[in-house]
Amino acid sequence: MAILVTGGAGYIGSHTVAELLARDEQVVVVDSLAQGHREAVLGGKLYVGDIRDGAFMDQVFGENDIDAVIHFAANSLVGESMLNPGKYFDNNVYGTLCLLEKMNKYGVKKIVFSSTAATYGEPERVPIEETDRTDPTNAYGETKLAMERMMRWFDSAHDVKFVSLRYFNAAGAHENGLIGEDHDPETHLIPVILQVPLGKRAHVGIYGEDYPTEDGTCIRDYLHVSDLADAHVLALKRLREGGESAVYNLGSGTGFSVKQIIEAARRVTGHPIPAVVSERRAGDPAVLIASSAKAKRELGWQPKRESLDVIIGSAWNWFKNNPGGYESKE
Ligand code: UFG
Repeated sequence: MAILVTGGAGYIGSHTVAELLARDEQVVVVDSLAQGHREAVLGGKLYVGDIRDGAFMDQVFGENDIDAVIHFAANSLVGESMLNPGKYFDNNVYGTLCLLEKMNKYGVKKIVFSSTAATYGEPERVPIEETDRTDPTNAYGETKLAMERMMRWFDSAHDVKFVSLRYFNAAGAHENGLIGEDHDPETHLIPVILQVPLGKRAHVGIYGEDYPTEDGTCIRDYLHVSDLADAHVLALKRLREGGESAVYNLGSGTGFSVKQIIEAARRVTGHPIPAVVSERRAGDPAVLIASSAKAKRELGWQPKRESLDVIIGSAWNWFKNNPGGYESKE
């Protein structure tokens, strides 16, 4: 039986595919390569196409004996989602509907879903628990919440069991040095910071220094991408053992400010990395920290790469060896 990984050529998808392959799972990847990279898929079978394309997905389900789906394929830029929400509702929400209908058609009853802390919006308290209020402040978070809700109804009507994993801030790169983060455009804090020692930008901008935090900059919960990938494997195990549908936060439970992240990157790279304070970025909550107690308790998940220097060090290793991302490999 094979695992279908949609968006398996993307950042978190490709790291999850690597973990599945390491456990001798049979993997089928579907990716449009709109954001993913062919070189990021380290094994299994890759189908290039769109999850909204019915004939294409019939071919994928028809040619493979699929037991479960891990669903990453989506757009995930908060800023872009505010300017073009239609793109997000189409690719993310309608795309998930198309996928669930195909799962139904082919009798596939298990799905692990890539969700986000953006489903919560401005938190009522930190650390955030899964039962806390969900009130997204951006269209991206709204689409992910809608996708989760859709899965609930497919569970009640068709017995499709899902595990939704709400990630906080994914960072770092695989220790094998072969895969890492490569977004175009790049907007995430750690890769943007590392562009300075790479010579790609003169300084990093700090988006606001007047937040109600100790040093005035936003606090986030950073988690190594391979620890995230491990959680998908455990979620799949839960579903295979007949577990009920569930939602889990995935974070380290520790928050670091933008300034602390820049300081750690200076330590890791040995580069002074100049920083310039600029305006706040719209829609940024001051503090986002996860409680992952439920994932630890019910999935047996335990992050193994919690040190900030290890996380940033792994990202730095990837960028140093692949300054142009996957294009460096061509
Ligand atoms: N930041 C800067 N300068 C930069 C880039 C980011 O100061 O050049 C700041 C941001 O304002 C924010 C923090 O660094 O306070 C982290 O920003 P990221 O863009 O790296 O990450 P976000 O927390 O905004 O978003 C991430 C994912 C989203 C997801 C969200 C959930 O990218 O997809 O976490 O919390 F929705």
